[in-house]
Amino acid sequence: MPDHIDPPIIEKVENLRKALHRHNYRYYVLDDPEVSDAEYDRMMQTLIALEKAWPELASPDSPSQRVGAPPLDKFETVAHSIPMLSLDNGFVDSDLIDFDSRVKKILDTDNKIIYTAEPKMDGVAVEIVYANGRLSKASTRGDGVNGELITSNVKTIRSVPLLLQAGEGAKLPSLLEVRGEVFIGHKGFKRLNDERLRNNQALFANPRNAAAGSLRQLDSSVTAKRPLEIFLYGVGNVAPNVLESHWETLCFLKRLGLRVNPLVRPKIPIEAVLNYYRELDEKRNLLPYDIDGVVVKVDSLSIRKILGATSRNPRWAIAFKFKAIQETTRIKKITVQVGRTGAMTPVAQLQSVNIAGVMVRRATLHNEDEIERKDIRIGDTVLVQRAGDVIPEVVKVIKSQRTGAESKFSMPRCCPVCGSAIVREKAEAISRCINTSCPAQVKERIKHFASKGAFDIEGLGDKLVEQLVAKGLLFSYADIFSLDQNILQSLERMGPKSAENLKNSIENSKAITFRRLLYSLGIRHVGEHIAGILADRFENLERLYRATSETLKGIDGIGPVVAESVVNFFNHDENKNIIDRLIDCGLQITHDSPDREKMMVGKVFVLTGTLDSMTRSAARKLIETAGGKISASVSRQTDYLVVGKSPGSKVGRARDLNVEIIDEATFKALLSE
Ligand code: IVH
Repeated sequence: MPDHIDPPIIEKVENLRKALHRHNYRYYVLDDPEVSDAEYDRMMQTLIALEKAWPELASPDSPSQRVGAPPLDKFETVAHSIPMLSLDNGFVDSDLIDFDSRVKKILDTDNKIIYTAEPKMDGVAVEIVYANGRLSKASTRGDGVNGELITSNVKTIRSVPLLLQAGEGAKLPSLLEVRGEVFIGHKGFKRLNDERLRNNQALFANPRNAAAGSLRQLDSSVTAKRPLEIFLYGVGNVAPNVLESHWETLCFLKRLGLRVNPLVRPKIPIEAVLNYYRELDEKRNLLPYDIDGVVVKVDSLSIRKILGATSRNPRWAIAFKFKAIQETTRIKKITVQVGRTGAMTPVAQLQSVNIAGVMVRRATLHNEDEIERKDIRIGDTVLVQRAGDVIPEVVKVIKSQRTGAESKFSMPRCCPVCGSAIVREKAEAISRCINTSCPAQVKERIKHFASKGAFDIEGLGDKLVEQLVAKGLLFSYADIFSLDQNILQSLERMGPKSAENLKNSIENSKAITFRRLLYSLGIRHVGEHIAGILADRFENLERLYRATSETLKGIDGIGPVVAESVVNFFNHDENKNIIDRLIDCGLQITHDSPDREKMMVGKVFVLTGTLDSMTRSAARKLIETAGGKISASVSRQTDYLVVGKSPGSKVGRARDLNVEIIDEATFKALLSE
């Protein structure tokens, strides 16, 4: 560090860098932050300001360096010191059994081989080189021998440490070539495509394309804005190298602060690999990112050496792929759906098709421009894709199947529900019904309000909302809280018990976090992410009411479009009126800590018996807020059985299946860590 600068300044910069590296690691690698996003942003802003004032303090591995470097003309090529091979594929159980037999044959043994199995991430392979603990180079896989140098781009990925961490018995290697997969998760993908939709840009077909496109940007400041993530799964050269097994390698990487997939299943025989494959296949829809199979690797590194590789694939590993999530089918017609903001979304009505176990009848076509871009016509044979719980999409038209009988689609001139005029703003790709009282919009706003990420009112599903709106019992979401139990029980498919349950869940839903409340209001462009930013910044609705467009635009993560939309929403008398009525219903609004949200992603809970301190629906809410899922019966997919008073036969089943059994106190501790 330069010695003409005041020591306290140098110390402050060093401390901030250390703290930001640590918070970065806690947030992006461990998924367990210690400070709020706002606090992190403040520290980052201070560091950036100090580095700007004293440019001599600049350092390539400062946490501020994740914003990107000056654009390149082209990527340089680099040779991988050890080629990055690809994997042989298997598709059915017998492929895996054959693989195991081949391994045994080469080794000339009948002993059981020990494997480590892990999710096959559907992203882009990269190699990152750390010299004496500092990130020095990063490259794409390329043709396996030579890749493209994408160091500045990889440095923008928050879960990639710029500096490795020593300590806890982990000595820093002088050289570490680490390999892994860069990907974009479902949430990030949705946010990215929503933003592109708003800005009239072509949409990414899937998270993998989005990740690949983002990594290959010549301007790394573009990459910096993309929600890229990483999991590391192997190494090239390591010096000094004392590693003996794959699992040991992964633990070593973890100790150095690198992100390793927590779903890796270490040291198992081939039969257990088959079970793991089935388990992951069933769980796959619950994961927050795409995986396309399981990678099975011989665990012992000395045995790997004996097995060696062909010119393309190692003989010690295989990718056991899941069934495709894309199928071809035909578009019977194109209808238009009116959303809660009046947005008209063209929807392809498909000849129903089974895609990896789920019947798909509809696929979103997003908007007119997308239809035009992909040249989609009624009658076309198309490739349809379903991933996670994302709405199925048309990937492309199979043009060779055209007969000439296909017809072009055009947007209707009036709203198909209320007949009002449709407007398409010049800069927008979306056409809208301008009547805010359009029954379709009212219905959708109420459905959104009652949905999982919002007020989460159990029992108030789409069908019931439709019935209530059609009968004139609901005109806005504020009316939900004054629904009469007697009237409810007289409705179709309702009885006294379900009416009582519904009233109870409506009552329970009044305890809500500010972030969920903001999301529930259905303000255009305010999804869960933006709602979180607003909830962190404003104490209550009053303050948000009074915020000007200027104030809003000044918040990190809020652009002019969102700011405008928030201000417009609160300027609208009808909205103000509804919200005042909502507040009068006696909501108990709390502020949540952002760290709580994602802890239990993918975890499946089953409840048995009665809990002392909370109702079932409150327990459900806790689990779901933490990203978990609740299921009715115990199976191999269950992660925890929560046992209350007078439990049932589920306990025995959980024991049989080796499912973790926890009591109410442990359950609460688990969710409030
Ligand atoms: S190991 C020599 N592990 O699959 C074996 N690969 O065709 C090196 N991939 O290019 C790969 N998840 O991009 C390995 N857990 C994982 C993986 C994984 C995804 C990708 C990787 C590679 C391709 C192999």
